[in-house]
Amino acid sequence: MKDNTRRTFLIQLSLLSAGALLVPSCKGKSMNELNGGKLDWNEIREQFPISSNEIVQFNSGSSGTMPIAVQKELMELIKTMNAMPPYEALDMWENERSRTKERIASMLGVTKEELAFVRNTTEGLNNVLMGLPLKKDDEVICSNVDYPYPIYSINQRVEREGIQKVEVQLDLMQNSNEEIVEAYKNAITDKTKLILLTHMTHREGHILPISKICDMAHANGVEVLVDAAHSFAHVEHTISEFGCDYYATSLHKWLNAPHGTGLLYVAKSKIPKIFPLSPSDKKQNDNMVKFEYIGTRSFAHELGIGPALEFLEITGLTAKQEHLHALKKYWTDKVKNLKNVQLHSNTSQDKSCAIASFQIIGKSAGAILNQFEKEFKLHLKATGYKGEVGFLRVSPNIFTSYNNLDRLVDAIRITSN
Ligand SMILES: Cc1ncc(COP(=O)(O)O)c(C=O)c1O
Repeated sequence: MKDNTRRTFLIQLSLLSAGALLVPSCKGKSMNELNGGKLDWNEIREQFPISSNEIVQFNSGSSGTMPIAVQKELMELIKTMNAMPPYEALDMWENERSRTKERIASMLGVTKEELAFVRNTTEGLNNVLMGLPLKKDDEVICSNVDYPYPIYSINQRVEREGIQKVEVQLDLMQNSNEEIVEAYKNAITDKTKLILLTHMTHREGHILPISKICDMAHANGVEVLVDAAHSFAHVEHTISEFGCDYYATSLHKWLNAPHGTGLLYVAKSKIPKIFPLSPSDKKQNDNMVKFEYIGTRSFAHELGIGPALEFLEITGLTAKQEHLHALKKYWTDKVKNLKNVQLHSNTSQDKSCAIASFQIIGKSAGAILNQFEKEFKLHLKATGYKGEVGFLRVSPNIFTSYNNLDRLVDAIRITSN
């Protein structure tokens, strides 16, 4: 395994090739801080090959893409992994893997012994949703704003084991945080065992009051699983401040790590009782490694998480979050008062970050999606609630320019007129 010096070198080299300032690595400080807050987002943008595509990518909510330095490092890791049997590579990389977990643990305010690398949020959530011991008639609370995949898992347990699904109905454009907490509270009965909670919703990018719901749930003896698919490396938070029991995220979304990388957190005291989705050696029952018995996979991809964390250090999360919020605010401010345009997101700083959604009254989301792709060369995501009119989700990233956003605003203006 190449050491960190080489990796830092690669990342700095790619910045240098883009004409950026070469700033020496200094532990605990982002390049932004070292550079007196003078971060040039154009230079960061140029690190992402996707930023020069003809079609502007506004669907980072589905997945991020790697910057050049992370791609290069991953290629090197793949080469190394293919120069030896895969599990030998894993053995050789064990220390590096452990260091990466330690860095993430410190970002999230937990211990590395409470973290497992999984392939994505779906796999992380499923370990808990399918592995938590429940008996017939036990209740699991979810809501209409959750992502469908974890709901499918609950549905399967309803069908196979007779547990009960209780779905809270939220109206994110109307409900206050207090009303949201109250809605979950009202759904709790003496049979409730778990609440599935989404930190940032997939349709509108709405941030739910996780800590408040966790406090309320725990006061009522109920555990909480947080779907943090959109949270890590997007909005500042810690698991310790949430106080949740379980948490899963994808690292290929907002961290821009290699695709197929994710993270599962289980509070130490809860690890023994969760049956892993892929069964493991019984002697690992008290260890998070029991969730990593998934057979042979690309260990190189897991090692690619390290370079992605280093790339994040260039900007630091505080500056990245501020920038993403500014990008969202830029386009939403320009379209929110247009006739026939309706925003489907609360765009305030405490309730959202990069993601926001809109609808053009009288036009179907599918038609807008096609027109934007073909006519304006803009790639968005169509979304919506079952039985209701669909809308369009816009997720810019740090590779998005203000010119890209002007194109989006023009397209919305023309189409809504
Ligand atoms: C809120 C939410 N949860 C879970 C997922 C699943 O993520 P992944 O495909 O990385 O498992 C998504 C995907 O977009 C999501 O938006």
